[in-house]
Amino acid sequence: MHSTTRITKWSTAFAAGALALGLAACSGGTTPAGDDGAGDGGAEGPITIGFVAVGPEGAWRAANEQNVQDTFTAEAGFDLKYAPATNLDQKSQIDAFTSFVDEGVDVILLSATEGSGWEASLKRAQEAEIPVILVDRGIEPDDPSLYVTRLAPDNVEVATAVGQWASDTFPDGAKYFTLEGPTGVGVVNERNEGFDSVIGKRSDFVKVGAQTANWSTEEAKSVIETVLKANNNDIQYIFAQNDEMGLGAVQAIEEAGLVPGVDVKVSTIDGTKNAMQALADGKLSFVAEYNPLFGDTLLEVVNTVLAGGSVDSQIIVPSTTFDSPEAAKAALPDRKY
Ligand code: AHR
Repeated sequence: MHSTTRITKWSTAFAAGALALGLAACSGGTTPAGDDGAGDGGAEGPITIGFVAVGPEGAWRAANEQNVQDTFTAEAGFDLKYAPATNLDQKSQIDAFTSFVDEGVDVILLSATEGSGWEASLKRAQEAEIPVILVDRGIEPDDPSLYVTRLAPDNVEVATAVGQWASDTFPDGAKYFTLEGPTGVGVVNERNEGFDSVIGKRSDFVKVGAQTANWSTEEAKSVIETVLKANNNDIQYIFAQNDEMGLGAVQAIEEAGLVPGVDVKVSTIDGTKNAMQALADGKLSFVAEYNPLFGDTLLEVVNTVLAGGSVDSQIIVPSTTFDSPEAAKAALPDRKY
């Protein structure tokens, strides 16, 4: 454990712009003795980070969690304690969170498998004056007083871009189906909110249904097989909330004797290599990146907070979109995940 001095400041008034410049807006609070906020731990030893993680879930998660572990290294002055959930079980996350509070780590990073059920844990960390940073996933109901900041791309914005692409792509509307992430995961509601902010205004878009496929290619293939049969293949569009599910939809479309990208278009969110290759091959029609590689920004946030600075309660990670095989082919050589 690092020094016993804790951050006492919980304010959330720091322009992300200053953070982007790596400036620590010292607005009071205290920093661990011997820590100059550079993450090198100072004379007291490494900064301890408890990472309450999701664990194996798909390509996006693997890229995100590896990026965090590659950032908070011993060489950089950190002792990152990686605690992936057991089979995506929230209780295993709450147990790990509690252990980190009891251990007195310097900072807790939380990627929640479930949006709700975190209030008691977050209050315990607050009482122990351990700053909590939400990584990717939010909490429901959202209460910024319970954490220092949430660092993620903006799900509503990303899904709004998907909705706008769909609206532009189908000028006469479409019958569509939504493949959702697991029930209870915060990003699912945010992505529906963004998508519906555009498509909800189009009366010529007919939603034949929505179902979770738990981020899984296999489950998504099975769901879309059923949906196509139930609708006599009269579906023009699938909104898949992540890449793996979109790729499963493509498999189902092909097995139904239909041509993905022609008979049925599929859009996805994440931007992992397999999806980008499928877009390049014309099997997916739109991929909205949800950038998982924000370890550098997370490092700035941690150092700012430990140096007594304060940060905005939400820090948005920039992401982009890809709407054609040409765009995917151009991007693929440089893709890092
Ligand atoms: O929370 C981000 C989502 O979780 C990604 O879109 C999905 O692929 C991951 O499993």
